Amino acid sequence: MKHIMITGGAGFIGSNYVRYALEAHPDWHIVVLDKLTYAGNLDNLKDVAERFHGRYYFVQADIADREAVFAAVRQYRIDTIVNFAAESHVDRSILDPDAFIKTDVYGTYVLLEATREFGLERFHQVSTDEVYGDVPTGYSQETDPLEPNSPYSASKAAAELLIRSYRVTYNAPVTVTRGSNTFGPYQYPEKLLSLFITNAIDDQPLPLYGDGMQVRDWLYVMDHVRGIDHVLMHGQLGEAYNVGGENERHNIDVIRMMLRILGKPESLIKRVADRPGHDRRYALDTRKLRALGWAPRADFEGALRETVDWYVNNAWWWRKIKSGEFKEFYRRQYAERLAQAV
Ligand code: NAD
Ligand code: TYD
Repeated sequence: MKHIMITGGAGFIGSNYVRYALEAHPDWHIVVLDKLTYAGNLDNLKDVAERFHGRYYFVQADIADREAVFAAVRQYRIDTIVNFAAESHVDRSILDPDAFIKTDVYGTYVLLEATREFGLERFHQVSTDEVYGDVPTGYSQETDPLEPNSPYSASKAAAELLIRSYRVTYNAPVTVTRGSNTFGPYQYPEKLLSLFITNAIDDQPLPLYGDGMQVRDWLYVMDHVRGIDHVLMHGQLGEAYNVGGENERHNIDVIRMMLRILGKPESLIKRVADRPGHDRRYALDTRKLRALGWAPRADFEGALRETVDWYVNNAWWWRKIKSGEFKEFYRRQYAERLAQAV
């Protein structure tokens, strides 16, 4: 493994992974292939381009564009693909599912075809704990059935089933990680923490869905990227691995802690109409990856504090985003909800 294509590397987790991998593997050459959708942002990789000149390359392309993907694999003599590229936001998948099918399902298929055609050493898929669906009690194990409930999680589950079929049918060298809710620097300000931190900095309302008692397992982005890297190095072909923060919390408690750190009042929280099909709880059993020697390291409050500080100190990064396409999405998603908020 030396010539790695990181698809979706201009997004949140992908850009954190690119930075980590270039430091951790001095012999790697990394090609980021990214369409630069609303969520892709070359600002996320600005320091990388400067620091790792000669080992880092960028190609703007769609993973669903077979010719462009094949040309880049050929040109850069790629031996490994790590696929972060996806439409990633549940609320957008409810408003407009189309791009989710094109990118998350068809795009993954094209990357699998490249894996087969060029005889790559590895295809790694960055998947999500949401493929298991709602988990009222207990902890999801890798052998549990996939029961996705949103167009987003269904598109990720569909990709996983294609990957499974390429393993069984073509003996493709695949691995999968299923990460839990990730937070940290460079997250597009549409997800719970990145949206609420940036809204709170500006004293704007925080639209909390339903009763706020939904449970997520919060994973610091550095723990997530180390988990992906660990599976690339030590994972068994054909296997999926859960990557969880072992840190279950109710949404309302996460938001209260964030407000305390930022020194903002809880009166900013507005209870709004719930998300349709909203999964109440995700929770991962991480023993399989732990057995390979990985464990989450972040202390939640410390990592949240670092994340809040990052958004406070990097307002240039998110203000640019929030003044663009984001405004139209925010209006569609929240205007009516906030008008009826309690
Ligand atoms: P993101 O939305 O921040 O970034 C997605 C990136 O993919 C962007 O750079 C975008 O431009 C690119 N992209 C989208 N469509 C593309 C296409 N057709 N061709 C090429 N590039 C394309 O996403 P993220 O939060 O960094 O998530 C990365 C991956 O991790 C996704 O596959 C997601 O399903 C998975 N994941 C995310 C979380 C989370 O909490 N954010 C948790 C578990 C798994
Ligand atoms: P999100 O960050 O969208 O991640 P996911 O749905 O993939 O878990 O949401 C995390 C939790 O926060 C989820 O229970 C939905 C809730 N949420 C809100 O209450 N309000 C919001 O505006 C958003 C974006 C999320």
